Amino acid sequence: MTYDLNALRAREFPWTERGTNIYLNNASTGPVPARALNAMMAFNALRGEPFRITDADEFDTVQRTRELVARLINAAPTEIACMVNTTYGINVAARSLPLRAGDVVIGYDREFPANVYPWMALERDGIRTVRIPTTAAGLPDEERLMSALDRPEVRVLAISWVQFATGYRSDLVALGRRCRDRGIWFVVDAIQGLGAATLDVKACNVDLLACGGQKWLLSPWGSGFLYVRDELARTLEPHAVGWMSMHASQDFARLTEYEFAYLDDARRFEVITLPFQDFAGFNASLALLHELGPAEVEGRVNALADVIVDWAALRDDVRLVTPADRAHRAGIVVLVPPDPAAASERLNRAQIAHAVREGGIRLSPHGYNTKDEVQRALAMMVGEDD
Ligand SMILES: Cc1ncc(COP(=O)(O)O)c(C=O)c1O
Repeated sequence: MTYDLNALRAREFPWTERGTNIYLNNASTGPVPARALNAMMAFNALRGEPFRITDADEFDTVQRTRELVARLINAAPTEIACMVNTTYGINVAARSLPLRAGDVVIGYDREFPANVYPWMALERDGIRTVRIPTTAAGLPDEERLMSALDRPEVRVLAISWVQFATGYRSDLVALGRRCRDRGIWFVVDAIQGLGAATLDVKACNVDLLACGGQKWLLSPWGSGFLYVRDELARTLEPHAVGWMSMHASQDFARLTEYEFAYLDDARRFEVITLPFQDFAGFNASLALLHELGPAEVEGRVNALADVIVDWAALRDDVRLVTPADRAHRAGIVVLVPPDPAAASERLNRAQIAHAVREGGIRLSPHGYNTKDEVQRALAMMVGEDD
């Protein structure tokens, strides 16, 4: 299928046709496309008349999610567990990896809290968390993090792929290779990258990767997944035990023939019942991304981010927080104009959705946005809109 931006906007994001709102806040919550809204409504219609729902409607839906996600990140469906948000997946990693007192979990400072608190909670068991300070420019210090991985007490590297407040994108290939060489578990939060950029978990040697659907995957709240590398998916002990995580629960006619034996794949980490209607929406949005082509979407997001970066390079009065080079950014670009509060106010008045994060204006265009929308936002931000 060719990528027809006008058709995409008209069909999946009809509100863009009204021309009243510009949405450049995909890093907070992505819009759910029409096909996913329809899928959820259809599922909810069944829910209103549950005699029309079969077990297959429920369980084929989550199986389809595992397949669509696996294809997106170069994993096997057996390595995908359906999760209701990112944080739960990070907690699975924090609670299931066999850590002991004295072990160190390392990451960046100024991370989104979902990558901090689940690990800090282990401190009462003597597991230490170390946060590598940012560079003078306030960006993650990837080089320093890389050297810190040589310390023998480091057992886990836990980072988000793309940082929420700076848009900095880490080099997962290089970090993953170092982790694998040192026997360190590599845990990644992909929510600010996946959908805007493409990802291959095998090439990056990721062990566990958590991602909610609600941002760049344009999916409902309550949808998400956890990737668990095959060997770990078969051997890690889940911290929360789902009734369907067991072999013995697969036959609903014999549920009380208990036998404590986990499934041999990532489903052992799922805590059923899941919001199937949200996963029906997730599937529709994932199918849309597959149809458009994840690499094609990535190219378009990059091109829109370039517009912002190139514009900032020509101005003395606006500071670009996000790295200018494409390798170190994805869909988030953060700027500090002379008066950020006034700039945000102007954008709000013009109904241009953005976010204010850590003192900067965060713009996060997606593949359905236009260059014109981005340019209008930039002009409005500095009061040059006429
Ligand atoms: C890096 C990062 N991780 C996680 C989240 C959200 O986590 P959850 O899906 O658990 O709400 C966000 C944003 O809200 C984020 O920016």
